[in-house]
Amino acid sequence: GQRGDDKIAFSEEQEALVVESWKVMKKDAASLGLKLFLRVFEIAPSTAKLFPFLRDSNVPLEKNPKLKQHAMYVFIMTCDSAAQLRKEGEVTVKDTTLKKLGASHSKYGVLNEHFEVLRFALLDTIKDAVPDMWGPEMKSAWTEAYNQLVAAIKQEMRRSS
Ligand code: HEM
Repeated sequence: GQRGDDKIAFSEEQEALVVESWKVMKKDAASLGLKLFLRVFEIAPSTAKLFPFLRDSNVPLEKNPKLKQHAMYVFIMTCDSAAQLRKEGEVTVKDTTLKKLGASHSKYGVLNEHFEVLRFALLDTIKDAVPDMWGPEMKSAWTEAYNQLVAAIKQEMRRSS
């Protein structure tokens, strides 16, 4: 692969943990998306400034449709990442999408630590949303899927900066 030839071992069970929990969570996508972002802003309040639609808007956070949309991107792309890791041993987001994501996130000023904050908030949100399914295996499956996706985005960010 592009990031070296070391394929990631990601099992069918790990993929299932991610996909099955997402199936449950997405029924409640609106409140889930809001929770994810409130958690991000709680951990690192300065991240709110990165979002143009929050800077220039008087609409209260919880009424802002764009926040939910970003949260959905994160959930859905992490799920896709899990499926790809299992099938290919690497994240193969469509090249054009990755390029675009890399370029836009470096333009918005998103830094390494912001991805860390988002991962922390994501795991917390999932743990609260599906407490009965949650456990060390689920935590590590979501972590790996997210980390590999972020590695792919960051590589494009370096290229575009
Ligand atoms: C926009 C995905 C992490 C901040 C977007 C878009 C997508 C996306 C698909 C819309 C298209 C675009 O503008 O390129 C993701 C994924 C992430 C991630 C999959 C991690 C797995 C982050 C992080 C931050 C961030 C950590 C900062 C805390 C933004 C901002 C926008 C954006 C500010 C522009 C929003 C707007 O103006 O509507 N992201 N993102 N993203 N993302 Fe992310």
